[in-house]
Amino acid sequence: MIYEAGIGGERFSSAQHSGSLGPARLLAKRLDLKDRRKLLDVGGGSGAYSIALCAANPRLSATILDFPETVDTAKRHAREAGLADRIAHIAGNAITVDWPQGHDMVLISYVWSAVGEADVAVLAKRAADALPPGGLALIHDFMVDDAREGPRFAAWYLLGSMFDNPTAVCLTPAYVEQVLRDAGLTVEGTETMLPGITMLTRARKPG
Ligand SMILES: C[S@@+](CC[C@H](N)C(=O)[O-])C[C@H]1O[C@@H](n2cnc3c(N)ncnc32)[C@H](O)[C@@H]1O
Repeated sequence: MIYEAGIGGERFSSAQHSGSLGPARLLAKRLDLKDRRKLLDVGGGSGAYSIALCAANPRLSATILDFPETVDTAKRHAREAGLADRIAHIAGNAITVDWPQGHDMVLISYVWSAVGEADVAVLAKRAADALPPGGLALIHDFMVDDAREGPRFAAWYLLGSMFDNPTAVCLTPAYVEQVLRDAGLTVEGTETMLPGITMLTRARKPG
């Protein structure tokens, strides 16, 4: 069954795909992933990030974990990109379903701005538990600066998220980094990805 409208449905996922492909290619250029082999793309939606990262890194494969209604669309995009054999899919709620082992990096893009604070902590802990020592966690999302004074576009987006979900968090680098530290990861830092809009936080599993 294909869910046409609503979050995760065909129309939502296709629109998300168009919006995410550009930033995903930018991320692929920014990251040196030559030593990474398996990406777990949590809340990966249409798979734009998995596709861009696998396309740029021939030895990388990916697993997208997202709700069942996203899987048909994600499979189609992977097929169209010629990457169906390197992108696997797990249908489920990332808060409750078992996460697969054997992935040396976890990406969570545009998910923490939508879920509540409690789920952010669970996702961080699950990422830490799923990674092997040296594994890489990447959080990419709308973030405002630590003083919460801007950038305006990110601030408006995060405010909008709170209308959708009153428990959504105003993401800042300090907040995201602290959640990752609390989960047991070693934070490397946060950098601007899309100026005025998104930031990327990198962390590693110690050991
Ligand atoms: C805004 S989209 C981002 C998709 C993709 N990460 C990207 O950056 O293009 C958020 C995605 O997170 C998924 N998502 C949100 N909460 C989730 C949960 N608890 N378990 C699995 N997926 C979830 C949604 O279904 C949706 O596909």
